[in-house]
Amino acid sequence: MTTRDEYNEIKQAYEESKERPTSKYVLIPSFVSALGDIKGLDVLDVACGSGYSTRLVKRYGANRIVGVDISDEQIEMAIEKETQRGIDYFVADVINDDLTYHGEFDMVTAMMLLHYSKTKKEIDKMLNNIFSVLKPGGIYLNIMSNNTNYEQYGVRATAESEEEGAKVTIELCSVDFTKKFCEFTSYYWEKQTYEEAFRKAGFEFEEVPIIVAGGGAQQPVDAAFREAMEKNPFFMIHRLRK
Ligand SMILES: C[S@@+](CC[C@H](N)C(=O)[O-])C[C@H]1O[C@@H](n2cnc3c(N)ncnc32)[C@H](O)[C@@H]1O
Repeated sequence: MTTRDEYNEIKQAYEESKERPTSKYVLIPSFVSALGDIKGLDVLDVACGSGYSTRLVKRYGANRIVGVDISDEQIEMAIEKETQRGIDYFVADVINDDLTYHGEFDMVTAMMLLHYSKTKKEIDKMLNNIFSVLKPGGIYLNIMSNNTNYEQYGVRATAESEEEGAKVTIELCSVDFTKKFCEFTSYYWEKQTYEEAFRKAGFEFEEVPIIVAGGGAQQPVDAAFREAMEKNPFFMIHRLRK
């Protein structure tokens, strides 16, 4: 099954999986913190899915906002959810479609994209495409999976092998594994491989630490959860500059 077909199939379940603690207390706060001050910026959200990350970009004050995704059904959902005007959504494949059709941007965001690349060539194609839509000095905020197995927190990652390019099946479940939200396929690439590709595409970059929100009396995040996430984060964030 292609990535497009997988995401067409799991569209509702993926959106619901955002209520899981790893998303709610780690992925989303980390994305928002790494966005920084985006007031007035033109932002393209690639791999926007049903628009969760795109709506966050809007909430934090971006000016012109475009979301693109390879899944036509996720884009339909994103359009349905957009009750206010201000976000334009399009179906586009970041590997093969020319994104400059949508103009130039101050920032490109991707909350979970690069690990869908099946080959190093596909990583390069995605990065070149993103580089080409950024204004000089523009920022690409890249969040990608570490394919981490967190059985105790409802994330199961099963890799076909330890080789680069190996297929990894990710299952997103409730913490007690009584409910499975969805599963999808990603691919394993070493961090060094990604970083070499960033340089090759022409980016300067830095890694940004993840954030674990909540804790104390405020939120149901205990010390063990915090320690597990900080020790072995399930995703990486890079801020890349053109
Ligand atoms: C894990 S979801 C993230 C969606 C959204 N950013 C969010 O956080 O809610 C990954 C998305 O990447 C999209 N995707 C995968 N490969 C793509 C490609 N080559 N071009 C565009 N979108 C792609 C999938 O269709 C899916 O919607």
